[in-house]
Amino acid sequence: MSIYKCLKKLYVGGIALLSIVFVISGCNSPKSKIGSEDAATDVYVPPGKHDKYYSFMSGGWTGNVSVYGIPSGRHLYTIPVFSQTPTNGYGYTEETKSMLNTSFGFVPWGDTHHVQPSKTNGDYDGRWIFINDRNTPRIARINLKTFRTDEIIEIPNTAGQHSSAFCSSNTEYISANTEYSIPLPKPLGNGVDVPIKSYKKNFHGTISLIKVNQKTGEMNIGFQIEVPPFDYDLGRFGLGVSKDWVFYTCYNSEEAHTLLEVNASQKDKDFVLAVNWKKAEQAAADGKGQLVSSNYDHNFRDPETGVVKTEVMKQVRVLQTSDLKGAIYYMPAPKSPHGINVSPSGEYIAEGGKLSTVVPVESFSKMQNAIQNNDTTGSLGGIPILKYESVLAYEVKNAGLGPLHVEYDGNGHGYNSDFISSEIVKWDLKTGKVLDRHPAYYSTGHLTVAGGDTRHPFGEYLIALNKITKDRYLPTGPEMFAGEQLFDISGNKMKLLLDFPVEGEPHNAAEIPASLIDTGQVKYFKLSDNHNPYVTRKEHDAKVVRNGKRVDVYMTAIRSHFTPDNIEGIKVGDTVYMHVTNIEQEWDIPHGFAMKGNLNAGMLIMPGETRTTVWKPLQPGVYPFYCTDFCSALHQEMQGYVRVSPANSDIKLSYGTNKDI
Ligand code: CUA
Repeated sequence: MSIYKCLKKLYVGGIALLSIVFVISGCNSPKSKIGSEDAATDVYVPPGKHDKYYSFMSGGWTGNVSVYGIPSGRHLYTIPVFSQTPTNGYGYTEETKSMLNTSFGFVPWGDTHHVQPSKTNGDYDGRWIFINDRNTPRIARINLKTFRTDEIIEIPNTAGQHSSAFCSSNTEYISANTEYSIPLPKPLGNGVDVPIKSYKKNFHGTISLIKVNQKTGEMNIGFQIEVPPFDYDLGRFGLGVSKDWVFYTCYNSEEAHTLLEVNASQKDKDFVLAVNWKKAEQAAADGKGQLVSSNYDHNFRDPETGVVKTEVMKQVRVLQTSDLKGAIYYMPAPKSPHGINVSPSGEYIAEGGKLSTVVPVESFSKMQNAIQNNDTTGSLGGIPILKYESVLAYEVKNAGLGPLHVEYDGNGHGYNSDFISSEIVKWDLKTGKVLDRHPAYYSTGHLTVAGGDTRHPFGEYLIALNKITKDRYLPTGPEMFAGEQLFDISGNKMKLLLDFPVEGEPHNAAEIPASLIDTGQVKYFKLSDNHNPYVTRKEHDAKVVRNGKRVDVYMTAIRSHFTPDNIEGIKVGDTVYMHVTNIEQEWDIPHGFAMKGNLNAGMLIMPGETRTTVWKPLQPGVYPFYCTDFCSALHQEMQGYVRVSPANSDIKLSYGTNKDI
């Protein structure tokens, strides 16, 4: 069936989105095509050699970020972010569990969407990765020296926080928005307990701008802007000429609150919201808007102790659109837009359209002219609407069905992904003329070009992040990994090089040249710099201390024993803190720690670090513990025992290694 017949089918009956499933399976089932054999040499990275790029992929409902090597597609690592991770104890140990605190309590799960590398002068600088949790609105900062989550900040007054975590040209701000508008707390809104049917009156959207400390990366909410209750979907900061602006797509200008697939798809046009963040920043600095009581948690790794701390925050500054005269505009966009992507020069702003066949591309210079000439057609919520024709550069025709996202190669081309017609389409950035198209398998969501959202894209590879895997790999029952496809885009025609499966649902990804990251890696932590309050730097300092029913075990681990490895005098009813310091000082020599009957998790302890698991023995007995990481030939000998006696026992506390206690 042709894509045009598919398109017709899509709109028949009005309930367009219900048809998408049929379109995917009925209209578009391209025969699986084996990539050309010579493609194998293009992705071959010989044993012992390294990939050229790191690809950071959001893990969707895994709550994590997965790291792949490109072009090989090798899975290098998974960075725990919003999820308790039993493989290493992140979110379980005393040192890390506070990272998952929120104003709702401990939330050990997240839904990661948009990976955003930090930038300097509009280009990746290899320092940090920011990523959002859509479900419990929060943003994490990952340190690329350690590939660890160093900070998570919750974003109050938002919900379904999809439109984040986008980064400005010099990482001044990270942007985050409400996708699902909600009532705001008094005195700003009408209070949070309101009837759902009062949506149009009582619900609000917010734009959040999170200030980033240029040296440390530490995040703080700068301010929020209250906007009409549409669904703010995706966003990007400008680049180059447009770097003072940030752009967001929004749908549901119908302000529907039920059966959105129909009720939020009524109008022919929705909007792009454009905000001059520099002017908004100035308005906030001038004390405009109001401070609103809002509870949110700010969790960060204390640089001194390495232990995560939680700061409970109480208020945030909220600006009104009336505070932002000349700094906030709507631009019409075709029905239910999705992605929005700014070209390397900052001049072109392209929008995807879930129900569209064209990609509208707006011109930043035309937008500035329209603002100067007051070329508007009414306003919404105090936000002037610029005329579509006045800001439009061109529409990319024949962009495929359901074009969702656009990336750029730095050589004058745009590329859009198509969810419905499952393809990648390449076009000329000046004219919008389509130059090439290639099928993708299947239903591409985001696509990513190496550096494709920077001033200077690398333009070598493009990855299609496909939502549906179906028959591309050996089947694994009803549930399977998502499938990514790597294309060579260095020539006139796109060339499919590789399929590779990835964990979770990788909504979005970013490729950073390895050379920006690999040389600065932390390989182990200096023991002398370990200021964890429960560190044990030398074996002879190991000890067990009782304080009422709390017992602190200060333990060391080194190939291939623990000190102490025999402990007696623990009683039922005690809470035992096992503080294990790995006193190795060498790269890639972790030790593990596992305790029989411990209702917590195992731990992996990196050289020079201390990790603590809390164990509450419930029954008398002798409990073995051991190292879980195959650290040496005598790894299995790396084990010990704890004797637990009844609560009323008079067994004295004693401990040691290589002696009878
Ligand atoms: Cu230490 Cu195995």
